[in-house]
Amino acid sequence: MALVTSTEMFKKAYEGGYAIGAFNVNNMEIVQGITEAAAELHSPVILQASAGARKYANPTYLRKLVEAAVIECPDIPIVLHLDHGADFETCKSCIDGGFTSVMIDASKYPFEENIEITKKVVEYAHDHGVVVEAELGKLAGIEDDVNVSAEDSSYTQPEEVEEFVGKTGVDSLAIAIGTSHGAYKFTPEQCTRNEEGILLPPPLRFDILEEVSKRLPGFPIVLHGASSVPQEYVKIINANGGALKDAIGVPEDQLRQAARSAVCKINIDSDLRLGLTAGCRQVFCEHPEYFDPRQYLTVGRANVKAVVAHKIKTVLGSEGKA
Ligand code: G3H
Ligand code: 13P
Ligand code: ZN
Repeated sequence: MALVTSTEMFKKAYEGGYAIGAFNVNNMEIVQGITEAAAELHSPVILQASAGARKYANPTYLRKLVEAAVIECPDIPIVLHLDHGADFETCKSCIDGGFTSVMIDASKYPFEENIEITKKVVEYAHDHGVVVEAELGKLAGIEDDVNVSAEDSSYTQPEEVEEFVGKTGVDSLAIAIGTSHGAYKFTPEQCTRNEEGILLPPPLRFDILEEVSKRLPGFPIVLHGASSVPQEYVKIINANGGALKDAIGVPEDQLRQAARSAVCKINIDSDLRLGLTAGCRQVFCEHPEYFDPRQYLTVGRANVKAVVAHKIKTVLGSEGKA
């Protein structure tokens, strides 16, 4: 199967009450871990590359790694998506370079400007058979190319979505309902603690999601910042020289609930990073004599695969849907 767009995937996911996992790719081990899990579970999958990933790995290497995955996993549909495209030029370069889906993230601009920039990308993308995701509302969080403080973040306003989708012609919409990027999604002050002292994050704003989906019936919604920050990996990292204090993510049961609704795409990056790092750190500490990268990257890659398999089965509900 060649690379596909997400159109058919989202239609089936919407109707079937599940979501497609969109996993960030940065190197060969991550591409392999994700696609091996998806192929074994017969799940559709989205491989997404950020500007930072393209800079790190070189766009040609990334593209060829994904092409290799398509050859190795002929039975599952795979989308190659640009994550957080900052401007028209970046989106154009990915469209021209063979991506089947792009995100134009103009959410930091005023509403009218977001519409204008998104519309321009949609026109170019649709002329080339590529689909477009845009964003309304601002997620908090800090990554290489995404840096929004909690004070500057804002929930999506449901009363804006019809006009935005109508005027831009966009194919899917990322909304802000309380998720955020990175491994520190909530401060301890935003959380409560259970009897064992474990931090419990505030619930996602399902009321906003419901209102958005009422206004856009049948339209695919996207959740960014949807890592759950598995505590078993945080513990392994910290037990092996790491220092991730109060790292906390979105509870998986809330994401499962979202996946049953209009949410058709769920973005996960940090959980892969945690799995990969935990595997490498563990090997470094247990075998200080090792210096062959294959020894620790094998364990890191197996963790990436385990994370993705778990998400497909427990969170996304996309097993067997390829
Ligand atoms: O949403 C951000 C993704 O986790 C990508 O992060 O820009 O550091 O590659 P990055
Ligand atoms: P996480 O940092 O929660 O994995 O979010 C990833 C993401 O939204 C990529 O666009
Ligand atoms: Zn994101």
